[in-house]
Amino acid sequence: MKKATAFSLAIALTGAAFITSCNNNQTTTEKMETKAGITKAAWGNTDGKDVFLYTLTNAKGVQVKISNYGATVTSWVSPDKNNKPSSIVLGFDSLSGYLAKPPYFGAVVGRYGNRIAKGKFKIDNTQYTLATNNGSNALHGGLKGFDKQVWDASTENDSTASLLLSYTSKDGEEGYPGNLKVTVRYTLTNDNELKIEYNATTDKPTVLNLTNHSYFNLTGDVSNSILDETLMIDADNYTPVDTTLIPTGEIKPVKGTPFDFTKAKKIGLEIGAVSGGYDHNFVLNKKDSSLQKIAALKDSISGRTLEVFTTQPGVQFYTGNFLDGTISTPGAKKINQHAALCLETQHFPDSPNQPKFPTTLLLPGEQFHSVTVYKLSVN
Ligand code: GLA
Repeated sequence: MKKATAFSLAIALTGAAFITSCNNNQTTTEKMETKAGITKAAWGNTDGKDVFLYTLTNAKGVQVKISNYGATVTSWVSPDKNNKPSSIVLGFDSLSGYLAKPPYFGAVVGRYGNRIAKGKFKIDNTQYTLATNNGSNALHGGLKGFDKQVWDASTENDSTASLLLSYTSKDGEEGYPGNLKVTVRYTLTNDNELKIEYNATTDKPTVLNLTNHSYFNLTGDVSNSILDETLMIDADNYTPVDTTLIPTGEIKPVKGTPFDFTKAKKIGLEIGAVSGGYDHNFVLNKKDSSLQKIAALKDSISGRTLEVFTTQPGVQFYTGNFLDGTISTPGAKKINQHAALCLETQHFPDSPNQPKFPTTLLLPGEQFHSVTVYKLSVN
């Protein structure tokens, strides 16, 4: 009995410490955090540029923190079914955590999120070569992708919980052609939706695949595995991959395979039959580029549900297979394998080399636009 009490106390204290440490980021703006809107606090400096942490608060008191370093979502604190607040995403409470290069925690990845085979692609017979930073392939924009850049930020109106981030990726940066102007707007609505709008233009033909790389654990506690959470993905097909996670080019039905999430099921149910765990692109059933619900994640411990809506044709479902306990949370808990999962809305991996996949080519004069919404509720 005594032991159980001490244990519960430890858990309670850890939770409190985490929330406190979140608040510590905002000591200068604490008073304003209680009302809906956006506040800004200094968060350090890198590459000779100032880094800030923005706190978006909605009318329900839910808070999302975002840094202009990597356009990164660092926390999303909401109450669970017992009214206990915790963050549903992996993140750090200081810039140093991100400068240590965690695997894309909460960041916007680009210019090309996911893999390009051998780091090579052609546009109009011109061959482009990227750094190979993932075995023989290019991953998530290269050695210094958008997740490691300091973005410009503007808040427009501090009574709206909305943050506009912009970044210009120079012609030739990481091997990609064309000066690419990118903006990402994050908005936290009063319905507990985090809306992410991406826009981009280029002055030369280029390829583009932008996504957010948040790692979710709806329990708010990384000691609970996400294998016990329940997932639905509205996808009858997926893109099988080779051993280096490059699509073979086939589009295969999920029916009768461990990839069938068309009806909600526990993530851990069939993961044992998937070599290395889930790290696959699902071909969404949606037939056009309108904003539609494509996935729902549920957790019984916290009572939380996360619904995902997107305009994009695919989603990379990744079960945190490479997390291995070497990184810890601000509350000093080890982040082990399957401690969190990603639902990265996107175009398909290696599209520049796969003529049958939806195109990721962006031409001068065109406007790239996509929207993804993560909607949180509790029952
Ligand atoms: C993506 C990839 C994974 C892995 C993670 C980062 O989700 O698909 O294979 O590289 O990013 O660790």
